[in-house]
Amino acid sequence: MPTVSKQSILKLYQHNRREHSGLYYTVPSPISYPYQWLWDSCFHAIVLRYFDTKWAKQELLSVVSKQFDDGMLPHMIYWTPGNVIQVEWGKPGTSSITQPPIIATAVSNLLEQDNDTDFLDIIYPKIKKFYQYLLTKRDVRGHHIIGIINPDESGEDNSPRFDLALGLPPEQTLDENFKRRLKLIQENIACDFRVKNCMENFFWVKDLPFNVLMIKNLRDMVTLAKLMKNDEDAHYFAEQAQLIAEALKQYMYEDGLYYSVYDLDYKKIKVKTWALFSPLYAGLFSQEEAKAVIQNHLLNPNEFWLKYPVPTTARDEAAFDPNGFWRGPTWISTNWFVFQGLLNYGYVDIAKEIVKASKSMLEKSGFRERFNPLTGQGLGATNFTWGGLIIDMEKTLAQYQKDHS
Ligand code: GLC
Repeated sequence: MPTVSKQSILKLYQHNRREHSGLYYTVPSPISYPYQWLWDSCFHAIVLRYFDTKWAKQELLSVVSKQFDDGMLPHMIYWTPGNVIQVEWGKPGTSSITQPPIIATAVSNLLEQDNDTDFLDIIYPKIKKFYQYLLTKRDVRGHHIIGIINPDESGEDNSPRFDLALGLPPEQTLDENFKRRLKLIQENIACDFRVKNCMENFFWVKDLPFNVLMIKNLRDMVTLAKLMKNDEDAHYFAEQAQLIAEALKQYMYEDGLYYSVYDLDYKKIKVKTWALFSPLYAGLFSQEEAKAVIQNHLLNPNEFWLKYPVPTTARDEAAFDPNGFWRGPTWISTNWFVFQGLLNYGYVDIAKEIVKASKSMLEKSGFRERFNPLTGQGLGATNFTWGGLIIDMEKTLAQYQKDHS
């Protein structure tokens, strides 16, 4: 049984570290994912700050180095050629889509560890441009909800949340899903990734976790703007966070729950995935709503309270596949968001259970990409970096307990 210690996480990150033209980055998995990914690098920086803040900064600087002129950060950077995931994105060297906007959280967490304002001076204008891009170019109707043009932008490539918009049935193979997403990329290329056109014609989805993460990150931008002594920006980002929170309530909320929506008329996508709990992360629920979603869904053994919680898709969904990709298995990243959401509402005992389950899956199966929620068996990529987030969960929990003792 592998032990998961600070040392083993450091070893994994050293093993996956790469250099290219003086820039340093970490591959999520040497064999399965040998390139750089946007939200992965943010997770990496969050973990690396406990080992070496310089390395964490390098990770973030490399991931913003391929920013597009309009501010978008591509979700993949192909620093060196590889023989996997050779998708034609219509661009050399990067993909043409983005990923969940968690870079402000990564920067602000890093600065808590090491108050390096020179680093902030360099990175702030770049990430500001990214959030402005999302706020302006990804909200084509000015309704204060950020849209995605492809499921991969959610980070949860084949989540059942996207089945309706893709015209796929709940029971499907990964291959069928992949083919459909490749077709969407061709459609995206045909409309030259012009957001409005791509959305109207091919994939009109407003994803709940993406927007929840946006709210949390805009609040982190407020903190960063204040550190930059830029009151105007601080005010702007605070206002935008509030507007999105109000819009989610207007378009995504029904009877105590929030859902992703699709099509022009904001149809709710009611398939139960971990996204049900994502609003906890940005504090969108009242205390009463939080209690209901936790009791009725998170702690429900027919839905999410399996032996190794939290499955990405509820057990009683037709789409549930415990050995699938984002259609059942437990991922450490989503556990990390749910864990923090639970602490926001004072559910420390359940938060502890999530840390315990995460740790025991890693100890049982090693640093795998994802885990069967019924058995804890490791699935997919090996030497996968996201397990490192366990260190942040443990530190956060210890700090929470200290603050509340
Ligand atoms: C998979 C995941 C995505 C991740 C990438 C690299 O495509 O779905 O979220 O960023 O692998 O780890």
